[in-house]
Amino acid sequence: MSEIESILKEARSFAPSEEFRARAIVSTEEAAERSYRESIDDPEAFWGRVGRELPWLTPFERVLDWSAAPVARWFEGGRLNASAVCLDRHLETERRDKVAIRWEGEPGDERSFTYAEAQAEVCRFANALLARGVAKGDRVAIYMPMIPELAFALLACARIGAIHSVVFGGFSAQSLRDRIEDGGCTAVITADGGWRRGKVLPLKDVVDKATAGIASVHTVMVVRRTENEVAWTAGRDVWYHDAVADASPELAPEPMESEDTLFLLYTSGSTGKPKGIRHTTAGYLVGTYLTTKTIFDLKEDDVYWCTADIGWVTGHSYIVYGPLACGATVVMYEGAPDQPHPGRFWELVQKHRISVLYTAPTAIRAFMRWGDEHVTKFDLSSLRLLGTVGEPINPEAWMWYRRTIGGERCPIVDTWWQTETGAIMLSPLPGVTSTPPGCATRPFFGVDALVVDEEGNELGPNQGGFLAIRKPWPSMLRGIWGDDQRFVDTYWSKFPGMYFPGDGARRDEHGNFWIMGRVDDVLNVSGHRLSTMEIESALVSHPAVVEAAVVARPDDLTGEAICAFVTIGSGQKPSPELIEALKGHVSTEIGKLARPSDIRFAEGLPKTRSGKIMRRLLRDIAARREIADDTSTLEDLGVIARLRDESS
Ligand code: PRX
Repeated sequence: MSEIESILKEARSFAPSEEFRARAIVSTEEAAERSYRESIDDPEAFWGRVGRELPWLTPFERVLDWSAAPVARWFEGGRLNASAVCLDRHLETERRDKVAIRWEGEPGDERSFTYAEAQAEVCRFANALLARGVAKGDRVAIYMPMIPELAFALLACARIGAIHSVVFGGFSAQSLRDRIEDGGCTAVITADGGWRRGKVLPLKDVVDKATAGIASVHTVMVVRRTENEVAWTAGRDVWYHDAVADASPELAPEPMESEDTLFLLYTSGSTGKPKGIRHTTAGYLVGTYLTTKTIFDLKEDDVYWCTADIGWVTGHSYIVYGPLACGATVVMYEGAPDQPHPGRFWELVQKHRISVLYTAPTAIRAFMRWGDEHVTKFDLSSLRLLGTVGEPINPEAWMWYRRTIGGERCPIVDTWWQTETGAIMLSPLPGVTSTPPGCATRPFFGVDALVVDEEGNELGPNQGGFLAIRKPWPSMLRGIWGDDQRFVDTYWSKFPGMYFPGDGARRDEHGNFWIMGRVDDVLNVSGHRLSTMEIESALVSHPAVVEAAVVARPDDLTGEAICAFVTIGSGQKPSPELIEALKGHVSTEIGKLARPSDIRFAEGLPKTRSGKIMRRLLRDIAARREIADDTSTLEDLGVIARLRDESS
């Protein structure tokens, strides 16, 4: 049985309003179709034209060289610099004095930087790195809170051609150490601490533990943020404010080859050590620039907020590189969404008149749980476009987002992509695509996506299978740092000639792609392969449920039995009646086959720090096994103990 059976049916669909369509950057179905066709039939003409929209130090000679597949070479012969693409290009225009970054700290402090100010800050930062001996090609680890200097750190590395490797500020000392060692980093940029839920995260302490005994790290540059006491290693450690005090605010950008590495970003798969995903300069910038402009439909007066942390790829591509290359005003927020109250996000939207908001399904489900009253007391009329990323969004959460946050007027772009893809791959175009709730809809320009069976044969409409991508695209990963063979094995061996992202999907009769979750999470019940995501969506469509995670546990009779962990809304009580009602609800929504054997109530579900549900851990709990996996990336360790107690 090579297919994944699709049981979710969704008849609703929402087209953009005429008002939105009329102003949109891509505003007709014909224009979208024409561009898509050209991007597939003649990718070099299409991407060559987009590539020429960036400012080059030396123009490129060739658009694509795929002769060394699966390592693509895009825009060869060209030279450019990512920090100049994001900053310098705007200084010759009236954007010079436009706000580039408007930042708010968790305690409520604010700072903002125009493009001219941001460029001067980045040059000072880059000069300070040069003075410490950081050179082109060196790897620099960045372990910081969400403060403006984090964005500047990326751009300062880019300005001198150093390769940044950002490690999310919630990772443990051991995780940071592994990444510093794997990348061979010689410098670390950090802060004394960062604010999270009213407490100081002592980042410098973690860096000290992570770097102990690593002789190759010659510099640790520390931004002062929380003013907590920090230990100091003389000669190695340097305060950022001291290092930039006399640094010049000018520095010519290093001319980088198109295929020079811009950054590494580690991603942990379900097994094995984290992979240092390698992105290069030109293709990545072209991809993030075009997707930001067309999918977020950016206009000069937009105030754009992506709520991700820069420690994830979403923050790299859609806080820093994409939006700044487009000359946008970007809002950046340091803290937690419920600090000091559960309406903090909506207060920020009201205060900064945010017009484009990009967030994650896991956050949306948390807001649903906290209650509408925390949303409706703020004025959200500035919003015009909403986005989601990171996980499949179940239709009920999508509808809530549309209604309660978007006031029924904002299109929603559900964007599917990965650390590896660098930029958005599947998404509605907000001015043209009629979008069913929970659907990432169509491939972006240049993305030749299809759904295949286990043998790599293309499947027909509504047959669930494996998502695959046939052609190279500019922002694709160029490899795994230090492990070329793993790059080929992981992504290019399952289906020869095709990129395999590891997600299940189906394409409906209208050509829309529905992501069905990671193929590792697929259940096998009585010989039927079912997607966890669809059963979870059915559970969440019951009014008592706000979040659900479905996993398999071994069963003598059916092979695998369906075990659902369910978080219910405030005001709801766990009871045997509710368990029966939920099982019955799944049966009626999608059929008896998908009826869970067990329903377990959980106060919270185990999630990675980027918000993805860790179904692997739930599988162990469901089977009452010892937890075999590394739990160091878990957001809240206590959740495991509580789940254990609740299910024993
Ligand atoms: O399973 C898909 C899911 O997140 C994976 C990529 O994770 P990461 O590299 O951490 O990047 C997250 C941000 C781009 C994918 O393989 N995923 C991401 N976006 C969606 C999604 N699943 C369904 N719908 C999405 N919109």
